[in-house]
Amino acid sequence: MPVFTLAHLSDIHLSPMPRAKRRDLLSKRAIGYVNWHRGRKYVHRREILDLLTRDMIDRNPDHIAVTGDLVNLGLPEEFLRAAEWLHHLGPPSQVTAIPGNHDAYVRLHPEAGTLHWQPFMEANPDGEALMPTPETRFPFVRRFGDVVIVALSSAIPTMPFIAAGKVGEAQRIHVAKALEDFGNQGLFRVLLIHHPPLRDQAGWHRGLRDAGKFTQVLKKFGAELILHGHNHAQTVYELDTATGTAVVVGVPSASEAVDGRVPSARYNEYGIERTDGGWRVEMVGRSVAASPEHVWECERRVLRAR
Ligand SMILES: [Fe+2]
Repeated sequence: MPVFTLAHLSDIHLSPMPRAKRRDLLSKRAIGYVNWHRGRKYVHRREILDLLTRDMIDRNPDHIAVTGDLVNLGLPEEFLRAAEWLHHLGPPSQVTAIPGNHDAYVRLHPEAGTLHWQPFMEANPDGEALMPTPETRFPFVRRFGDVVIVALSSAIPTMPFIAAGKVGEAQRIHVAKALEDFGNQGLFRVLLIHHPPLRDQAGWHRGLRDAGKFTQVLKKFGAELILHGHNHAQTVYELDTATGTAVVVGVPSASEAVDGRVPSARYNEYGIERTDGGWRVEMVGRSVAASPEHVWECERRVLRAR
């Protein structure tokens, strides 16, 4: 198999924010709306996102993974704009998306929300043949040769000031079976989840409520690469599992402005290659630097050599 390249970006927080109608703000959104206009809109800038995604598209990766928080307040108009943005990245066969907590900001009928992203959030034929998607839509599976993507939703509506997530028992059972089966078939298993999956990676207010149980699933059945967002920071952890080391990588937000206070916008590109004894994975980090704003290779690192 030639090198398979997978680009990963997250926490898009697409701007500008559409105008909200008064009735749309009779909820948790009212607080979020004020927060957005007081500060977040200066942090998540559209021109930064566009600069980064142009660079990513120019490099022509085999596939692009977007791990959630595409929108901010879950306004119906935001979901439409995010669907347009996804189509701009590439055709649904080359782009996989999962939701984050901001995409489940308030309880919405799916028709008004993430269903607009459905072509990007469903199995491909090869993935469906490996594991049929449950009625709850997650996890869904996409297969590209020897690389298989298992895409989860950890997005749940929560009270104001809470950004927690949950995998839930039903998804855990499906994920366990998927990881076991695909591991037995010698496939390279990539797991996509919005929230950081390991215990202690985020506190009670923002973390994965069942991180402990989910970590046990990962340890028992293994995975090769686990990609997440949510923390708006670049982190790499290694998790010992029954099938070897799982590498867990968090990526910063794709739209955070360069102002010295926050990690600047970044995406990672993974080159995945089969070796004699296993897999070689090289990560290339590309991020936005200031004055003049441009994208540069900020990191190159072999995450696993076999
Ligand atoms: Fe998030």
